[in-house]
Amino acid sequence: MYYQSPRGTQDILPEEQTYWRYVQDKAAAMAERYGYKRIETPTFEDARLFTRTIGEETDIVSKEMYTFADRGGSDLTLRPEGTAPVCRAYIEHGMGSRPKPVKLYYLASIFRYDRPQAGRYREHHQFGFELIGEADAAADAEVIDMSWRFYKELGLITLPVQLNSIGCPDCRNAYIAALKAYYAPGISSQCQDCRTRYDKNPLRLLDCKKPDCAAAAADAPHSADYLCSDCQAHFDRLIILLKAVEIPYEINHRLVRGLDYYRRTVFEIQPLEEGAQSTIGGGGRYDGLIEQLGGETTPAVGFATGIERIILNLKRQDVSVTALPATRFFLAWLGETAATVAFTMGAELRREGLPLVQSLGGRSLKAQLRQASALGVRYALILGESELENHTIVLRDMASSEQRVLSLDGLAATLQQL
Ligand code: HAM
Repeated sequence: MYYQSPRGTQDILPEEQTYWRYVQDKAAAMAERYGYKRIETPTFEDARLFTRTIGEETDIVSKEMYTFADRGGSDLTLRPEGTAPVCRAYIEHGMGSRPKPVKLYYLASIFRYDRPQAGRYREHHQFGFELIGEADAAADAEVIDMSWRFYKELGLITLPVQLNSIGCPDCRNAYIAALKAYYAPGISSQCQDCRTRYDKNPLRLLDCKKPDCAAAAADAPHSADYLCSDCQAHFDRLIILLKAVEIPYEINHRLVRGLDYYRRTVFEIQPLEEGAQSTIGGGGRYDGLIEQLGGETTPAVGFATGIERIILNLKRQDVSVTALPATRFFLAWLGETAATVAFTMGAELRREGLPLVQSLGGRSLKAQLRQASALGVRYALILGESELENHTIVLRDMASSEQRVLSLDGLAATLQQL
């Protein structure tokens, strides 16, 4: 019997690491440039952390969570997103007493029982960042600016930022009433999910991808027309700031996002090529979340992007990424006596800091050199009986096949200079 990785998960093989390192290094550098500090939270959390914050009626909570009882009977969930865990940690560690805003970023695996397809997995990885403790629209603008610049610096071409304001709980009531009034006459002919949304989470009606439901959403009232004066002022200010830093955006009145904790600003970014999984990143403001988790009332805004989807689009757009450096040296040897000397020499050269792979079994020189070239090393070192006698070693340039003889005295220093 052969085992395979569970459906919707994937092995990230060495050949793929070039892309992963490229994206992760850029993510960390970007986050640090904007003043974010890295945080890592556990892979699983109390299930209620997610059900209460993401919302019982969302797809994530109702269909996609990996929830299980552990042996002690606790209900745990593999994290289906990163924002609620960061807020939980923020409260738990009293980060509210730190100078605000507190800026935290993460690179973490995320689990959702989604229907797998290209760019959609059951385990994926996110780069996310959360700016906690600032209510000003400048915080939203800075988060959007950073998201936008991140893709630019990766070399990805994206569409204008999709932007909307869904208001606060005060103005949302009037909007939801208007939305329900608009949908009421035709709701019985919409899909089953939409009929449930109508009762339980009407905002999500705007987000249904089924053609008939999407057509119904086209003329639905706009949340931006129902904003209270504070939400309106916030949205206006955000737009002024986005223009000031020249972020292309489009107001998308149907953008509501798939998590219930958002207030006011929501936004998403899509890559140039439209596909089934077109969104590569999304975020928004979630001023009520920390209070909902038992912390003090704390405004916050954040964003997350899927690394697999970024890599998929880097490939689609033919973005060349810097290759990871191959190991520089390969140590080959010939003959019984050389075996032990070569083994010791390899260990010592690595201790001196040289990146070196040594031949381990007793293979022919030809086979050893084949291995060296498969590894992409720049130089092979060859130790045979006669070199041993002369206290020397052969250095072979793998690109040009040129060889020269080096003394074993001061070998590490000689190699360091190459
Ligand atoms: P989200 O939109 O649910 O937001 O996920 C963020 C990104 O994760 C998506 O844009 C997509 O790139 C990626 N993603 C989501 N599901 C999958 C999947 N099944 N397979 C591959 N990639 C996927 C959040 O999770 C919020 N916590 C973002 C946020 C941070 N809001 C405020 N702060």
